[in-house]
Amino acid sequence: MGNNQNPTVLVLGASGTIGRRVIKDLEGQAVNVRITSRKQVVVDQLTREGKDCTYLDLDDPRTFALALAGVDRVFLLTGYTVAMLTQSKTLVDAAKKAGVQHIVHVGVFAEWDTTDAHFAWHQMIEKYIEASGIAWTHLHPNMFMEVFTGLYIPKNFTYTGYWDDRRIGYIASSDIAAMATKALVEGPQRHGGQHYWLSVESFNGQEIAELLSDVTGLDITYENKGLEGFKGVIEQVVANGGESWYANANIEFVTQMLDGRMSYMSMVQNDIPYVLGRPAKTLREFLEEHKAAIVESATKKS
Ligand SMILES: NC(=O)c1ccc[n+]([C@@H]2O[C@H](COP(=O)([O-])OP(=O)(O)OC[C@H]3O[C@@H](n4cnc5c(N)ncnc54)[C@H](OP(=O)(O)O)[C@@H]3O)[C@@H](O)[C@H]2O)c1
Repeated sequence: MGNNQNPTVLVLGASGTIGRRVIKDLEGQAVNVRITSRKQVVVDQLTREGKDCTYLDLDDPRTFALALAGVDRVFLLTGYTVAMLTQSKTLVDAAKKAGVQHIVHVGVFAEWDTTDAHFAWHQMIEKYIEASGIAWTHLHPNMFMEVFTGLYIPKNFTYTGYWDDRRIGYIASSDIAAMATKALVEGPQRHGGQHYWLSVESFNGQEIAELLSDVTGLDITYENKGLEGFKGVIEQVVANGGESWYANANIEFVTQMLDGRMSYMSMVQNDIPYVLGRPAKTLREFLEEHKAAIVESATKKS
């Protein structure tokens, strides 16, 4: 049962990379947590476990009112789809009607005048949240370190990259979650109107290969496949069910990385110590944690 003195926090994307960690980090904090899922079987299971879990499908605003009733703070995370625009607009409208006081939103690491599509969508959402009158906290993560255990995990002793010698900043999803949790627990008085920039360290492809080699003890080389190679990756992502608008926006991302319009992605801007009072996770620490999986992938016979 919830504590009436504590604010109620509604978490979207609770089964995803960041949301899963937010749920864990919120455990034992002075808030009531309401988990949401678009899968009824998950709602039933968590309810049986005694959790406050409500059905909410971001593509169906009719499911918002019951989920938002009595909620004070919302963790707003959308997936890798252009639908984020309508989903966030309708969710913010409903949050306003439900009397929500604070929205903590996961966006991107971008200059204010970015022209890359999926970055622009996130900025439109941020502006919409701001215009709602609800207090907001905007998280701006750069590329998740999880790419090195996922899409860009080394294979055949090779780390394959697509943006030549350009640098990108990285952040661990556990640190994004920790920042979200802190803002959700401490609320709008402390974190309202804040932009938190989450880009801890910056590397180019060659430096990533060297770090991967150092951590694994293997000789991992860097191969740059460039824009044409990246288009092949995106074809695969879409063939595997990835949403095409978001996927194709990534082609624009690589184009702009290569021609310099997105050179701000190389910036280090790390607000974690200010808010959490501890250092952020480094890429070396992340790779050490996942060394076994990386070695297995890099050495696997194809
Ligand atoms: N990857 C990066 O490097 C990077 C960098 C900066 C920003 N971002 C941003 O991070 C966000 C994604 O975060 P993530 O990696 O944690 O996401 P994720 O792992 O893909 O998880 C997405 C979550 O959203 C839920 N969801 C999807 N569609 C839904 C719907 N219609 N209704 C209700 N829930 C729905 C999913 O639930 P189900 O279990 O039902 O699928 C899942 O819990 C995106 O906004 C992206 O732009 C990513």
